[in-house]
Amino acid sequence: MKKHLLKMADLNREEIISLLNLADQLKYEQKHGIAHHRLAGQTLGMIFQKSSTRTRVSFETGIYQLGGSAQFLSSRDLQIGRGEPIQDTARVLSRYLDGIMIRTFAQQEVEDLAKYGSIPVINGLTDYCHPCQILADLMTIREYKGAFEGLKFCYIGDGNNMANSHIVGALTVGMKVSVACPEGYHPHPDVLKFAESYDEMFELSDNVMKMAENADIIATDVWASMGQEEEAAERRKAFTGFQVNDTVMAAAKSGAMVLHCLPAHREEEITEKVFEAHAAEIFDEAENRLHAQKAVMVKLMEHK
Ligand code: CP
Ligand code: NVA
Repeated sequence: MKKHLLKMADLNREEIISLLNLADQLKYEQKHGIAHHRLAGQTLGMIFQKSSTRTRVSFETGIYQLGGSAQFLSSRDLQIGRGEPIQDTARVLSRYLDGIMIRTFAQQEVEDLAKYGSIPVINGLTDYCHPCQILADLMTIREYKGAFEGLKFCYIGDGNNMANSHIVGALTVGMKVSVACPEGYHPHPDVLKFAESYDEMFELSDNVMKMAENADIIATDVWASMGQEEEAAERRKAFTGFQVNDTVMAAAKSGAMVLHCLPAHREEEITEKVFEAHAAEIFDEAENRLHAQKAVMVKLMEHK
């Protein structure tokens, strides 16, 4: 495995499966009260330039359960917020910490932190991708469906960080992927290029019903991501018809599961009814952030 987790494409199939196996083991151990202080004495710095509930709490709890500790570093309070360059911040933090998780806007900032620092860097969400969330989602899919082979994964909505990472993750583990996005809101060109080599395993269209047909998993995300609040009204118009509702679920396979990374906007990208009918999967998915990220930290930090 590479030294950092900067984006989903950093992981091949074997590495993803090995992370998910470790996440399952850590989940089992935690549920059975078996201590696993595999990162005893280590410190994770958590830089946040955007809000967070799940990422912050799951990383902080996770490193604590592994025997280490976390530092919450809001970029408002760091000198980064006053213009200290990332290459200096990276070199300084590398002298104190054992690993860094960062949530920010530009993917380049995360890449630079990894380039100039000397400790593992974990991407906790950028405008481009959200790899930790995808590992939790794949873990949840495997818990519910047993294996990935033969499954159809459908994403409906904005071609955003979640779409980008879902496409790479789902194709890498061997699922068929269909994506429904309106014109003008397609996934990142690099991701579409990645998907090209998967030929008929990948489809992108604005035909929601066709993409949802026979899907085993339906995933969605907000129409306006963090940083796009001012576009919310315009986006609500553009995404009309891209809602996960009863009609979409009727097109999917019976027993299809629904994933949402949260926070959710009920009656926008998903109806209250579909959300509540699939709350079991959605909150297992949220819980699995903890276990999947513990696996990432162990793999990157245990023998660094
Ligand atoms: N899904 C997710 O990353 O949630 P937070 O924004 O609350 O961290
Ligand atoms: N696309 C959303 C995901 C939140 C976890 C955002 O970036 O705000």
